[in-house]
Amino acid sequence: MIVGFEELQLKDRYKIMSRSIIPRPIAWIVTERNGINVAPFSYFTGLSSEPPTLIVSIGHKKDGSPKDTLVNIMQTKKCTICSVTPQHLEQMHQSSESLEYGQSEAERFGIHTKRVVEEYPPIILGSPTALFCTLYQTIELGGSKTIPLILQIQKAYLDDAHTAEGFDIDFVAVGRVGKEYCICDKKITP
Ligand SMILES: Cc1cc2nc3c(=O)[nH]c(=O)nc-3n(C[C@H](O)[C@H](O)[C@H](O)COP(=O)(O)O)c2cc1C
Repeated sequence: MIVGFEELQLKDRYKIMSRSIIPRPIAWIVTERNGINVAPFSYFTGLSSEPPTLIVSIGHKKDGSPKDTLVNIMQTKKCTICSVTPQHLEQMHQSSESLEYGQSEAERFGIHTKRVVEEYPPIILGSPTALFCTLYQTIELGGSKTIPLILQIQKAYLDDAHTAEGFDIDFVAVGRVGKEYCICDKKITP
């Protein structure tokens, strides 16, 4: 079967993309303006190590207003991206609930945070790694309501318990496959 994306409905495009581009990493993004905002995003991937950049695409709420994470990054130019392990699966998923601006998912869902770098939003306690980022560039997607943001990584938090000498980082991550999740716990060598 060959399907043309032009004539496909948005939900079907999403279905094909989210089941073909797998597994997708999850950026659990912490931003800070009116309180601590936490939300997951999986239109997300690394771009380059020089400059150290990644991309995340953030859409709008059902009422057409920009998502809180987007508002906060545009205002503060900063965010902290935490990695997700199985221990956080439920809270990560809960934090995707659309709350009113200024209501904190961290408070609502008991997600504990800790400030480890003064000038950036806190990390989520228990995340093996976190990336402290500044806004590098926004990309115009032909009038789309989804805004891709290029973020530059300025610092990283690496939990000693998951980091061996030479930045050998090892942890079990949660990825996204369609609307479900997968656990990335097996490594194979060709
Ligand atoms: C695993 C997962 C991945 C998601 N990925 C995205 C994404 O890439 N882009 C997006 O706009 N929303 C994505 N969402 C939905 C947002 O998390 C959701 O709209 C959230 O309410 C945004 O919160 P905020 O308004 O506090 O920024 C995802 C949700 C889940 C559960």
